[in-house]
Amino acid sequence: MSQLEAPVSVANLPQKPDRDSDNHVDELIADVMATVNHQIQRALQSDVVLINQMGHYIIGAGGKRLRPKLVLLSALAQGYQGNHHTNIAAVIEFIHTATLLHDDVVDSSSMRRGRETANTVWGNEAAVLVGDFLYSRSFEMMVEVGQMRVMEILSSATNTIAAGEVMQLMNIGEPDIGVERYMEVISAKTGKLFEAATQLGAVLACASTDVEQAIARYGARLGLAFQLIDDALDYTAKSDELGKNAGDDLAEGKPTLPLIYALQSSDNADAQAIRKALLRAQDKGQLSDNEVRPVVELVCQSGAIERTVELAQQQVELAVRDLDCLPAGVYKDALVAVAEASVKRRF
Ligand code: IPE
Ligand code: IPE
Ligand code: MG
Ligand code: MG
Repeated sequence: MSQLEAPVSVANLPQKPDRDSDNHVDELIADVMATVNHQIQRALQSDVVLINQMGHYIIGAGGKRLRPKLVLLSALAQGYQGNHHTNIAAVIEFIHTATLLHDDVVDSSSMRRGRETANTVWGNEAAVLVGDFLYSRSFEMMVEVGQMRVMEILSSATNTIAAGEVMQLMNIGEPDIGVERYMEVISAKTGKLFEAATQLGAVLACASTDVEQAIARYGARLGLAFQLIDDALDYTAKSDELGKNAGDDLAEGKPTLPLIYALQSSDNADAQAIRKALLRAQDKGQLSDNEVRPVVELVCQSGAIERTVELAQQQVELAVRDLDCLPAGVYKDALVAVAEASVKRRF
């Protein structure tokens, strides 16, 4: 049987429980999130069987739905009374999902959201093309909202994300990119979509420019913190809990902050071993578990994980301060809670 005929019945897929630990926030926006999920399901429909299957496969696997939550909370915290926030939230989750489909091909990842990746089940070509479908569907959905500012923000965000992924590709196997170039990559590939999510809440609510900028900054900083923790977890977490393979960043030669910090603080011999592993990953395309394990240990022993988490914590503190511009209330509290939870998360 070819990969394109993989026997996945959409109706029988187990729906994974929402793994967001912050139940209070989930309860607060449960009804409006249900509308978002309904819109996502509707937008996934296509006459092309493979698009239906793969779309439901990855979206049905759950995920934290963090970015759509941010759109909703940002809009509601600013008193938004309309109903476009659910459309924008669905658009943002579509864009996120498209980037994941593409990212797993580029990263040769085999696990996502606790399941085999779409590229493992159906092959790289199909995953790239369905990722393109989701991207372009998200543009159809955003046009329906009919606001030029919304389109400006989202088109520029997707462009920045793509540039970020290309920058990251260029850094593969380069142990000496330094903190600044690393931060540039994560701010583009991850920070930008968080920024767009929270900024759009302000745009919908017709907030003042100052408030719009502050909440956009909150999103950008939270996105940085989120990716910093993702990169730390890639060294410390268990694949089962993470729902994706831990150790993949090193295995594929991606220099993330834990590795950059470890190089800075290790003695010569350890630094050489780390550097060599990264170069070998670039040559081979992928390191084996046996090659990855000792280097992960070196990175973890170097204090690099603690430093990475500390930087994430600082970004979250700054992000929370950006919320000072919002009126007090349950939605503002929820934005604070989401930011704080994102550094404490284990998956
Ligand atoms: C994964 O994002 C990609 C990163 C930016 C690290 P999430 O961790 O939000 O993925 P899901 O949506 O919950 O699966
Ligand atoms: C995030 O980076 C990817 C995107 C923003 C598309 P990662 O490559 O670290 O994400 P995971 O770990 O595969 O989820
Ligand atoms: Mg990846
Ligand atoms: Mg990662």
